[in-house]
Parts: sequence; structure tokens; C-alpha cells
Amino acid sequence: MKNFYITTPIYYVNAKPHLGHAYTTIVADSLSRFHKTLGENTMFLTGTDEHGDKIVKAAEKQGVSPKEFVDGISALFQKLWPQLGIENDGFVRTTDEDHKARVQRFLQQVYDAGDIYFGEFGGHYCYGCERFYTEKELENGLCPQHLTKPEFISEKNYFFRMSKYLPWLREYIESHPDFIRPERYRNEVLSMLESGALEDLCISRPKSRLTWGIELPFDKDYVCYVWFDALLNYISALGWPDGEKYTTFWPGEHLVAKDILKPHAVFWPTMLKAAGLPVYQHLNVHGYWLVRDTKMSKSLGNVVEPLEMRQKYGLDAFRYFLLREMHFGSDASFSEEGMVTRINADLANDLGNLFSRVLSMTAKYFDSKVPQPGDFSEDDKAIIELCATAMTNYIQLFGNTQFAQGLDSLWDLVRALNKYVDSQAPWTLFKQGDSVRLGTVMYVLLSAMRKVALCLWAVMPDASRTLLEQLGQQPGDGPVTTALEAEAATFDGLLPGTEVAASSNLFPRIDVKALQQEAQAAPKARKEKKQEAAKAAPAEAGQGGEISFDQFKAVQMCAGTVVAAEKHPNADRILRLEIDFDEGQPRQILSGLADHYKPEELVGKQVIAVLNLPPRKIRGLMSNGMVLTAEKDGKLSVLTPAAPVPNGSQIA
Ligand code: MSP
Repeated sequence: MKNFYITTPIYYVNAKPHLGHAYTTIVADSLSRFHKTLGENTMFLTGTDEHGDKIVKAAEKQGVSPKEFVDGISALFQKLWPQLGIENDGFVRTTDEDHKARVQRFLQQVYDAGDIYFGEFGGHYCYGCERFYTEKELENGLCPQHLTKPEFISEKNYFFRMSKYLPWLREYIESHPDFIRPERYRNEVLSMLESGALEDLCISRPKSRLTWGIELPFDKDYVCYVWFDALLNYISALGWPDGEKYTTFWPGEHLVAKDILKPHAVFWPTMLKAAGLPVYQHLNVHGYWLVRDTKMSKSLGNVVEPLEMRQKYGLDAFRYFLLREMHFGSDASFSEEGMVTRINADLANDLGNLFSRVLSMTAKYFDSKVPQPGDFSEDDKAIIELCATAMTNYIQLFGNTQFAQGLDSLWDLVRALNKYVDSQAPWTLFKQGDSVRLGTVMYVLLSAMRKVALCLWAVMPDASRTLLEQLGQQPGDGPVTTALEAEAATFDGLLPGTEVAASSNLFPRIDVKALQQEAQAAPKARKEKKQEAAKAAPAEAGQGGEISFDQFKAVQMCAGTVVAAEKHPNADRILRLEIDFDEGQPRQILSGLADHYKPEELVGKQVIAVLNLPPRKIRGLMSNGMVLTAEKDGKLSVLTPAAPVPNGSQIA
């Protein structure tokens, strides 16, 4: 039996799961199910990444210990997945004792082999990414991910001799064309390797700076760098070095988005090589879900809640949309309008309509029993051939992570079946009393519909099961088939005489108008709710535009020192400020102060800013707050405390 092992990234627990996390995990689930339908032995792993600075900061903010904090958010992920139809076989947490012990073992092994050394290093550290950047990697001196200025840190640390393995890696990628796929990411990694920007990897953090991590087995004053720790989840969860699952499933395949290409395409294979372990088979890289052209992420405040989508549109339709809409590798835009259009066209019109009309005709003409076919005509043979081609293409494309194209190929069949209904006109055959021909047409349709339903289990497990039940099949509890390839090669499988359902209405059309009205009503409803809340608020809240004390308290204002200021590269009147609010790293805020202050006049000055406004992108740069100013006759003056106060002081 063939084995198939698929993983998702282990997600950071500094934020609740959103549609981006849901997408990767649904893709992994669909792939795992797909390989089950091919009769393979599968293992699907997901989990949470729980060490590092970010987590400590997030826990501090909530006033709880890091452990309490990570337990809470990791549980949210674990609770969410079954609600999205996800059936993972393992869930790994980097705070698991077992994981920690295996990471230490790996570190010791590479250390003993001489590939970890101690050295002094100065680098540009981005707290957001929790990593050092080399000069060459920065863009205009800023972290390319966060657009913030990294801090220059110089300290003694342990290093992994990654550079030693880079020539090998380059050759490996060149001789294994589908090691990193799609190709654009393979090319990106090859240019990274050619650029010469990659050096040895700093794999420790001194405990004086960070304690929330796995202690190095050869130096108790240091903890392991989060990425080195996190990547090892893929084998620690299998029980490396001698666990049965490790021997069975490694090497497997990974699924990630392009944000974490480098650790997976460069750090991870070189780590495996240094430890003498086989490298993974494929790194499958997808693009971002965008909302109005911007990456969906918590820090940008534009996240889509997967459970809300499930509740509104149904789980299967939501899963189908995600896989059908995103061309794996490219970015895709998420919008509810787009989702409704797709659901109405593909599920309600094409698939739903096919099932509904064929089942009701079978009820009418054959008392809901699958008829015995006669000889197949040329038209029937064309459909039978298309069924085989569509399924074969689907299998090939899906296995290559071309989910949208695979589903489209299946829909070629669904659309052709609808046309076949029209061209064969069973109602005319019925009127003419041609029961042999009528039976043959209905058999061809029902049999092909069964094939479609079998293929769909990977993407829409509940719908697939229901459709098969409607076709008189008893799919049982496990995968609906374990022989999809054999199913593609034959057209039988549906026994004449089988009783089928009299009707089907699995994907009712979504009423776009009603949805639009609801969306228009939403702001009004929110306004009414606000007014009600204002009425119910404490006595301080008066009439005529006054706000309640609680509303005022919800505005988070803090004092901070401007540590860097410069003109916005693309906007004359805006200054880009970096302000230290004692948050571990300065915050980038854009402010329309360029006509009123020279950048150097603001550096070192304490200002007051609102910190809990949604982040805004202004001419390509993110602004994470608003500096307060006093304005009279168009002249702006920044607010500043009468005497210096500690950075991060709350304004109350
Ligand atoms: N903890 C690391 C991964 C360590 S793996 C050894 C991490 N975590 S994360 O929580 O930031 O997750 C990043 C992943 O979440 C992306 O690679 C992708 O799988 C998913 N996505 C998060 N936002 C996304 C979009 N807007 N669009 C698509 N996928 C996104 O990085």
C-alpha cells in the first residue's frame, strides 16, 4: 500500500484562526481524503507553533502566563478544525514534552557532527518575524514583511552551518523539478540561492532576552530559535528517529503559503541534510487570499471568519469555493459576492440542477429504480468516454495540487451531462414510449453522476455522501471509495434496480438580492444597535452626539517616543514615523505632518497616539495608529505630555 503524508504549517498562537489558516488546512484535508480515495495509507498533520517572543508579548498583553495563553489559543484551533470537516490524524504543539525532547536530540546530533558553532553576530532583528535579516534582504532599510525598521542587535549565539549545504541544495532543486512547486516558487528559491544573500543560520536566542523556548542541550543559557524548533514538528510528530509512523510516512509533502517559503525551502532541507535524513518529497506553495487587494491578516484587521462563512453558505459550498477559486500558487480575492456567484453557477445551476432533474425523471419514468441500459449509442459512448477523461484529468490535476483545474475538468463532465439531458430529451422518449432508449439515457446519467459524487468526497465530504445516498449507495463511514482510479477506467458500478431518491435539492440557489438587502440593512442595524447601546449606557452618556464613558474608555491612547521619522517615499505631505510605545518594537504610524514638521524635529519627541484603530495602508505603507494633533487654521501641532513620561503610558 502506498503511503501519503501531508502537513500544514503549524500556526502561531498569537491570533485566532482565520480564513487564511482555514484554506491551507482545508486543502490539506482534501488532499488527504483524495489520497484515501486512491486507496493509500494517509497521515495528515497540523498543529500550533507556540514558542518565541511574539507569544510572550501577546500573553503579557492579556496578563496571563505564556503557558495559559498558548493553551487557550491552541484549543481554539483544535476546536475549529472538526467544524470545517477537517479530519487530521495528528495535532502537534511545540510545547509538547515529546516534541521538545526530539528537538533537543536533533540539535545534539547536528552539534556533534560539527555543524553547529558558537560565534558573535550582529544583525538586523525584526521582532515581527522573530529573525535576523542581512543588509541585502532589507528593502529600503525596512523588514520586507512588516515594513518596519529592524533593530540592530549584536550578541553571541549558536549558528547552523547552513552555507555548507547551499550548493547541494541548489543542485538538488535543479535535478528535482517538482521538489518545490509551482515553478515560480522554485525559481524564486533558485534566485535566492544565486543571490549570495544566504549565510549561516543563527539558531539560538540568549535566555537573558528570551526564556520561552526549548533549551539547547549543549548550553543551558540559550533557547532554540523558533523556526529551527518549529520545522522539526514535521518529524517529531511522527516519532523521529525510530517511531513507526516516521518509518512509514517520512518523507512526506508540505503545504505552505508563500510567506514562509524560505524557511521551508532553504532552512528545512539543509537541516535534514545535515542530520543525514531524507528531504521531503514536495513543498507545495500557495498564494494569499486577498481582501480588496490586501493580504488578509489579523494585523491588518481584514480577516474573514471561516465559521461565519460556513454558517452563511454551508460547509461544503465554502470548501468548494476555496479550492475552485484559488489557482494554487497565485493570489486570489475573497469576496462574498464572488462566492455567491460561484456557488450559484457551479453548485446550484450545474450540479444541483443535474441531480434534481435526473432524479425526478427517474422517479417519474422508472419509479425511482435505476433502469437496465440497452445498447449504447454514439452519443452515450461520447459521454462514457468524457466521464473517463474527466476523472483521469481530475485525478492527475488534483494530485498535482491543481485543484481549480481538476474541479473544472470534473465540471466539464457535469455541464456535458446537463447538455446530454437536453439533447436526448428523455421526456420525448417517454412520450414516444421508447423505454429501452429512455432506460439507456437515464442509466448513463445516473452512472456518471455516481462517478462525479465519488470524486467530490475529497472536497465536499458531506455533499458527496448525500449525493451517493440519493443514488442508492451506502457510502459507510470511511472514504466513499478507495479505488478512484479503477472507477475512472470503468463505467459500471451502479446496479440496475437500485432504488434512488425521488428528488434532490442539495444546493439551493442563493438569493443575491436578499443578500444585498441584508448587507445594506447591516450598517443600519448596527447604527440602531449602537443607539440602543448608547441608551442603555451609564448616565454620563447624554444626547446630541455625546459618547458614553465606556465608549471613551475603549479608545486606547498612549504616549511614545518618535525614534525615526522620514518623508513617505510616495506621498509628499506624509511622514513615516517609528514610535516606541514599549511594545518590544517600534510601531510604524503615518501622519500628515510633512508640511508642519521636518522629520528630524520629531525624532526624540514624545507624542500621543491612538493605537487601536484598524491598520490602514497609505500609498503602499501601513499605518498602525494615529498621532494626535491640535489644529487651528490649518496649522497642526502634535500633542505631547507636559513632562516626559515612560513610553507606553496610557492616556486616561
Ligand atoms: N508558525 C509559522 C509556521 C511554522 S511551520 C513549521 C507561521 N504561522 S502562521 O500562523 O503565520 O501561519 C502562516 C500560514 O497561514 C501561511 O503559510 C498560510 O498557510 C496560512 N495563511 C495565513 N494567512 C493567509 C492568507 N491571507 N492567505 C493564504 N494563506 C494564509 O508562519
